[in-house]
Amino acid sequence: MINDSIQNEIVVDVKNLTKIFTSGLIRTKNVVGIQNVTFMVKRGEIVSLVGESGSGKSTTANIILRLLKPTSGTVLINGKPIEEFRKKEYYRKVQVIFQDPYGSYNLYHKVDRILNKAFQLKKDPPPLEERERIIHEVLDQMGIRADELLGRYPHQLSGGQLQRLMLARVLIIRPELLIADEATSMIDASSRAGVLNLIQLLAKDEGLAIIYITHDIGQAQYISDRVVVMQNGLIVEQGDPSKVFIKPEQKYTKDLICCVPTMHQRWDFIKF
Ligand SMILES: Nc1ncnc2c1ncn2[C@@H]1O[C@H](COP(=O)(O)OP(=O)(O)OP(=O)(O)O)[C@@H](O)[C@H]1O
Ligand SMILES: [Mg+2]
Repeated sequence: MINDSIQNEIVVDVKNLTKIFTSGLIRTKNVVGIQNVTFMVKRGEIVSLVGESGSGKSTTANIILRLLKPTSGTVLINGKPIEEFRKKEYYRKVQVIFQDPYGSYNLYHKVDRILNKAFQLKKDPPPLEERERIIHEVLDQMGIRADELLGRYPHQLSGGQLQRLMLARVLIIRPELLIADEATSMIDASSRAGVLNLIQLLAKDEGLAIIYITHDIGQAQYISDRVVVMQNGLIVEQGDPSKVFIKPEQKYTKDLICCVPTMHQRWDFIKF
């Protein structure tokens, strides 16, 4: 477990982030992606971004990942503006796992090669034998039997195994911040619980700051230290999940919670 003074370090500080998308050459049309988005994530903390489709969760993530340039606002990693980092240095600090585990790998590379490539991001990549030791150690930590994965191609693995492989890769790189964008939405419920527990392990034992993006309020409640609720590109509410989900202040948050299906209630047929 990480100690309290380390836990108070701010890893990512997002300030007044706005992104306006413009499309069309002659008649330009502006679409608000996000507006004035402000939140932070400390070391060892999991912050969930929740909200309906199109609320701006991925736009926020893609700006932090430097895949999109903001219209205005800043993102600091360890107190430094993200545009001031060199590319390799930046992706040593910030990593992502996406929704589609199949689209995240080169299908012609065996798992061994995928994990070995992760060492290339390191400042001083260890020699080959040391890499093999680390790979076995990391797979063990992720609860994966090495013979289950090594020597196989991505298409020979299940979605759950691929997401765990992605997390093993993250553990080799040991970034400061991990962004998980709908990382469990394509895997079944039993694999999902395992992946959520591994994400918790990365935060609580390894001290990673994690931004967990999900549609699923139940997952956000289960996994997060704080939740940020977004609607139409704006943050409408943020705070402790027990406060936000048990006593929401905003009608939008109440509506999101009402939509969560439960085992004890069947949906009433609604006529529109
Ligand atoms: N490249 C783009 N060009 C124009 N508009 C965009 C672009 N990317 C996103 N948008 C718009 O920005 C808004 C926010 O989209 P975003 O993808 O961030 O939502 P989201 O919360 O991640 O949704 P989902 O839950 O469906 O993934 C939407 O209105 C979307 O149409
Ligand atoms: Mg999205």
